[in-house]
Amino acid sequence: MIETQILVDLDERSYPVVVGNALFAKIGTIARGLPSTRGRKAALVTDSNVAPLHAATVTASLEQAGYEVHLIVVPAGEASKSMEEVTRVCRELHRAGLDRGSFVAALGGGVVGDLAGFCAAIFNRGIPFLQIPTTIVSLVDSSVGGKTGVNLAEGKNLLGAFHQPAAVIGDIDALKTLPKRAYREGFAEIIKHGAIRDRGMLDDLSRFRDSLEGIDALIVRNVGIKAAIVKEDERETTGTRALLNFGHTIGHGIESAASGELLHGEAISLGIKAALGLSVAKAGLPRAEADQVIDLLRDFELPLRLDARFSVDQILVKLERDKKFVDGAIRFVLLRALGDAFVSKDVTRDDIAREVHHLFDV
Ligand SMILES: NC(=O)c1ccc[n+]([C@@H]2O[C@H](COP(=O)([O-])OP(=O)(O)OC[C@H]3O[C@@H](n4cnc5c(N)ncnc54)[C@H](O)[C@@H]3O)[C@@H](O)[C@H]2O)c1
Ligand SMILES: [Zn+2]
Repeated sequence: MIETQILVDLDERSYPVVVGNALFAKIGTIARGLPSTRGRKAALVTDSNVAPLHAATVTASLEQAGYEVHLIVVPAGEASKSMEEVTRVCRELHRAGLDRGSFVAALGGGVVGDLAGFCAAIFNRGIPFLQIPTTIVSLVDSSVGGKTGVNLAEGKNLLGAFHQPAAVIGDIDALKTLPKRAYREGFAEIIKHGAIRDRGMLDDLSRFRDSLEGIDALIVRNVGIKAAIVKEDERETTGTRALLNFGHTIGHGIESAASGELLHGEAISLGIKAALGLSVAKAGLPRAEADQVIDLLRDFELPLRLDARFSVDQILVKLERDKKFVDGAIRFVLLRALGDAFVSKDVTRDDIAREVHHLFDV
């Protein structure tokens, strides 16, 4: 496969996701072909790890297509998803003379995409932006769907805006420079997609553990799942988009309790395991189907057990910060079977405490 395009179909906000090899060198041409990115000036926002690896190729391609490119590098890591960084980036956009006729390109993982996308959403009340994802998480999840934002000390993603990109350009060659731990972490989201919408995808997923062979088709399949869900429920109002939170309610509690020691996908792996346990107990998910997913998480060396650094209470306190229990129960995504997810309203605090407790079992 050389290049595939998937359309995220959102009426006048529709956009293409292009997936293929050697796309960084074509970004200028692709941008020229889009209606909203034909101005003269562009800001390329990237992070300190990705800049030395890929910024020169992307800049050269944009310049060749006639753009004046202003490079903005933010420190790598989740800490850059902050209002301080938003202010700094927006001031640079202003200083470089960008206006509504210009655009922002986000080159990097979900951190850069969320931050630069949010800056594009609010600078001059919104200017166009391009997503150029370079991690598994950003390719299959964060670059598609228009959620942008930053964190507060009180919690993740508490500030943000819906701002759909003009296009997503996913060059899978970028994955060759991605560290193994970040690569494998991304499979938590892929496994999640399979569990909620596409059980067939799970069958031969393990082969990607150590090989990029055929990864383009896998990414396209995942973008298709995300795009379909976003089309059905762009602003998370009907409940469909909420299905993407499978594994994330408990996972976020664990991520927050781990204070930086676990990557997002690693915490979500534990959250998925607990959500599978709840699905078996409360929604009739066959144990063998739950085990198939757990085996896959293990294949990607994702964590499935909590140690004594954590406690059930600590995780529940964190969880209750971003999810409020009403009459002792919360909305929680469960599976009736692999590929068949729904939002349950009767998962109780006790149910969750029991499953989190199981995560400590040897
Ligand atoms: N907006 C959404 O819908 C959405 C969905 C899922 C996750 N997110 C957000 O995404 C973020 C996580 O994204 P992530 O997992 O991509 O993390 P990340 O952006 O921190 O990237 C992971 C690490 O890999 C480095 N890196 C990125 N691409 C590289 C490459 N090609 N080669 C070498 N190094 C590279 C980065 O510098 C970083 O150190 C979180 O902030 C999360 O909240 C948002
Ligand atoms: Zn996630």
